[in-house]
Amino acid sequence: MKKVALITGAAKGIGRAIAEKFHLLGYVVYIVDLDDENGQELVKKLGNNAFYLNIDITKVEEVELLFNKLLESENQLDVLVNNAGIIKDNVIWNMPLEDFSTVIDVNLKGTWLMCKKGAEVFKKQKNGRIVNIASRAWLGNPGQSNYSASKAGVVGLTRVLALELGRYGVLVNAVAPGLIDTPLTQKLSDEVREKLIHAQPTKSMGKPEDVANTVAFLCDEQTQFITGQTIYVDGGKSIGAGI
Ligand SMILES: NC(=O)c1ccc[n+]([C@@H]2O[C@H](COP(=O)([O-])OP(=O)(O)OC[C@H]3O[C@@H](n4cnc5c(N)ncnc54)[C@H](O)[C@@H]3O)[C@@H](O)[C@H]2O)c1
Repeated sequence: MKKVALITGAAKGIGRAIAEKFHLLGYVVYIVDLDDENGQELVKKLGNNAFYLNIDITKVEEVELLFNKLLESENQLDVLVNNAGIIKDNVIWNMPLEDFSTVIDVNLKGTWLMCKKGAEVFKKQKNGRIVNIASRAWLGNPGQSNYSASKAGVVGLTRVLALELGRYGVLVNAVAPGLIDTPLTQKLSDEVREKLIHAQPTKSMGKPEDVANTVAFLCDEQTQFITGQTIYVDGGKSIGAGI
């Protein structure tokens, strides 16, 4: 039986690992991103049943176009993974309003827009799974007043959608990664990376595949009755022991 997964921010990093995992599981995968080079390269690598679409998740007309195109071709959607996200870190007294707004726009408004369109489809189908990629940073991180707030919003959004969609057979959960080795964290200086790794209970970084496997678990047919939850994939950092 055909299954279709839509993953945002899937040209690289965590989203790419999620797209690869679902493709391996036999899903038709729709890769949404703004990074044409990596997106097209991934589709080429995966071969059949993989499609790349350049869509900005913050633009309502582009999100509508995306859903129209997908439903016209596939007539169904089984899994929606909202993974696209950005950071623009600074302490609040040095953070321009623009950097607050941009991060909220992509991480929260974009995720909300995708959830809104996804919810319409899933409610009608009476089945579906949504997984929103939050972050352990929603608990709070210095220098991330924009990012932490956006991800706290994603956790709240996930809980509300679990309540609104539960009766329609739709499960909605979040995954909160900790320090994961991706192009996003590769931009950090060696010194900062070392410091962050040292602050981990596991003294290591996670891999994109660690997050992808958790998303796949949450979307597995055998996984039922879990909804509205935030699952940490963070090497224990969220315990907050400060070791
Ligand atoms: N890497 C980590 O340590 C880490 C930790 C916690 C949470 N996360 C979250 O995981 C997700 C993926 O992170 P990553 O490290 O793989 O990042 P990444 O920068 O490697 O990849 C993110 C992708 O999202 C795309 N994107 C950005 N804005 C977009 C938009 N408006 N529309 C469509 N696509 C857009 C980018 O082009 C990029 O390909 C993000 O939501 C991030 O906040 C990452």
